[in-house]
Amino acid sequence: MYNREQTKELQELTEKYIKSNITCETSNVNTLRDILRFHEYRYYVQNEPLISDFEYDSLYKKLEKFETEHPENITPDSPTQRVGAGLVKDFPKVQHLVPMLSLENSYNADDLLDWDRKCRELSSLDVVEYSVEPKFDGASISLIYENDLLNRGATRGDGVVGDEITVNTKQIKSVPLSAKFSEYGIQQIEIRGEVLMNKNNFKRYNDKLIEEGIPPLANPRNAAAGSLRIKDTAEVGRRNLEAFLYHVSYMVSGESSMLSKKQPATHSGMIDMLWHLGFRSPQREMKIFKGIDAVINYVNDFEAGRDNLPYEIDGMVIKVNDLQLQDKLGMTSHHPRWAIAFKFKARQATTKLIGVEFQVGRTGAVTPVAKLEPVQVGGVTVSSISIHNEDYITEKDLMLGDTILIERAGDVIPQIVKSFAELRKGDEQKIIFPKHCPVCSHVLYRPAEEAVWRCTNINCQAQVVERIIHFVSKDAMDIRSFGDANVRKFYELGFLKDVPGVYTLPFDELSKLDGFGEKSITNLQTNIEASKTQPLHRIIYGLGIRYVGETTAKTLANNVEHLLDFINLSEEVLQQMEDVGVKVASSIHSFFADAANVEMIKKLEVLGVHLKNEKKALTTGGNLTGQTFLFTGTMLKFKRSDAEALVEKNGGKIVSGVSSKLNYLVVGEDAGSKLEKAKKINSIKIISEEEFEKMVSS
Ligand code: IVH
Repeated sequence: MYNREQTKELQELTEKYIKSNITCETSNVNTLRDILRFHEYRYYVQNEPLISDFEYDSLYKKLEKFETEHPENITPDSPTQRVGAGLVKDFPKVQHLVPMLSLENSYNADDLLDWDRKCRELSSLDVVEYSVEPKFDGASISLIYENDLLNRGATRGDGVVGDEITVNTKQIKSVPLSAKFSEYGIQQIEIRGEVLMNKNNFKRYNDKLIEEGIPPLANPRNAAAGSLRIKDTAEVGRRNLEAFLYHVSYMVSGESSMLSKKQPATHSGMIDMLWHLGFRSPQREMKIFKGIDAVINYVNDFEAGRDNLPYEIDGMVIKVNDLQLQDKLGMTSHHPRWAIAFKFKARQATTKLIGVEFQVGRTGAVTPVAKLEPVQVGGVTVSSISIHNEDYITEKDLMLGDTILIERAGDVIPQIVKSFAELRKGDEQKIIFPKHCPVCSHVLYRPAEEAVWRCTNINCQAQVVERIIHFVSKDAMDIRSFGDANVRKFYELGFLKDVPGVYTLPFDELSKLDGFGEKSITNLQTNIEASKTQPLHRIIYGLGIRYVGETTAKTLANNVEHLLDFINLSEEVLQQMEDVGVKVASSIHSFFADAANVEMIKKLEVLGVHLKNEKKALTTGGNLTGQTFLFTGTMLKFKRSDAEALVEKNGGKIVSGVSSKLNYLVVGEDAGSKLEKAKKINSIKIISEEEFEKMVSS
């Protein structure tokens, strides 16, 4: 898309615009748009940004200011035009230029051998050339460009008619608003692709839902499909969707000149063309093979590495590469004959819902947990699954004895996809939600605006135990060898009554218990002692304040010097913090307004738990100040979380992916795609664990 010279020129221009603070005027507005498009491409398509988000925003604001003052100068493909027009009422139905067919599926090598044989017979060739690419597991879309401008975006719908979602597709930053198809003599083109939410963004999105007490989504596909049909376009933008474009379904040639580039004659040529025009096509993932044997090897290798990809795929798509041959092979009524999907091992399974248990959480929320006939999904056995709340049971139409479909996408917690009402025999039973707490018998209460029934007895044994379990858990105070079972046991025996009790355990008594040898007692003692100096955000998270997850806890910790500072912060002040909305602010405020909570925190401090924000003092002047790090592969000398903490302690920062913002990639054993990617970016220093160790100790 951008060659070396263009990249250099645009980067020099960028620096000039940032450093000399050039204002945007009629004479240079197009240059500024080019600069912004270039950085969008680096960030969203190539995943190799050259400037910081802050710098991008400052350039963007310049353009926005100019366009507000001179609306007559706005062009439809200006980077500002992604910003949607507020709320959409309804999505009009539109007909696709060519029906969006689905693909025939295959599940093993024999299926592929059969398909290859048919392709060879129909084409009278001995060997067919195939191009192979991932089968992206998202929501399919169709995009139409006319005279180089994005003119329409639509969902698949029933394959013939879909929803027109142009404003929402414009929110996807890897979808160019304009592309120079005219250089290929193309006047109109329909492109197909898949919209995805990557695993990281999906996790963040689901965590937020959980923090808000909303059932999480089963997989990123549902998240992407749902996001495309949201009526609030700004919200679509916040979901950080991505799009892979993998198929040209229709083309109308316009005026061509001697200078026109040749239109591709192969599928891989189309993928290259799209890539060079600024689309995120699977250009890097695609491979071309002569004959089916090599294809079979490639799809198997890809399946083995499936979990290392940043997004979900559910298989591979194999396509006859020659477009003329594709035409010749044609289609059946359902599928093209020139392509086939190779499906990976299912992450879904059917099983029976045989019972429901009601568990009381640390906030008193009563969660129904479905007991299942054990079943293997995605490599693990699942025998129980959260069914969240009463409304969820109604929505999913669940009954005891039902056959249900469950899914476990990657490392996502398994979820119920649906029940099969059509398979009921008549002896299934309704799931009845209790009216009293199953632990303390206190009457349950469901606030009007919530979906959750709660036990409001804060001394309810289940809540106290769950609060302690949460406090000592891995993501909170990380007290190893404590564990759920020990918390329950110590509580039942009266050795542990509340959270501060973690620091006053009677070890003499514990050592008399079965299974508590000297070694395990010393271990427990050491780990408890070590937890006293955990960073503040872990304590905040450990307190189990409603709506305060790990991310919010980090934000909160960064905003105070001492935990008790929160007593004096108003809801308004709290709301000014990143990601803290009205609901979260109110929850934090009422937590610290409760004298019993403050008392408990003070007790912790007296018992030696550090409540100061030590991080601020430590991070300035460390020998890694200003440097960014990422760890990949299996580490032998360090636990990854310890290594990351060391970086932060020395003033460095951990980044989430390989980009030009990364300074050091620390490589353990069996490093994979991150290492390959880093090798292509000259500025990244690739170092071993030993070298890292030297850096932090010097
Ligand atoms: S090609 C005419 N390529 O899988 C054939 N499809 O059942 C056009 N999909 O509806 C489809 N990744 O939504 C193609 N690399 C890929 C794909 C892909 C995902 C989806 C697509 C299609 C479904 C097939």
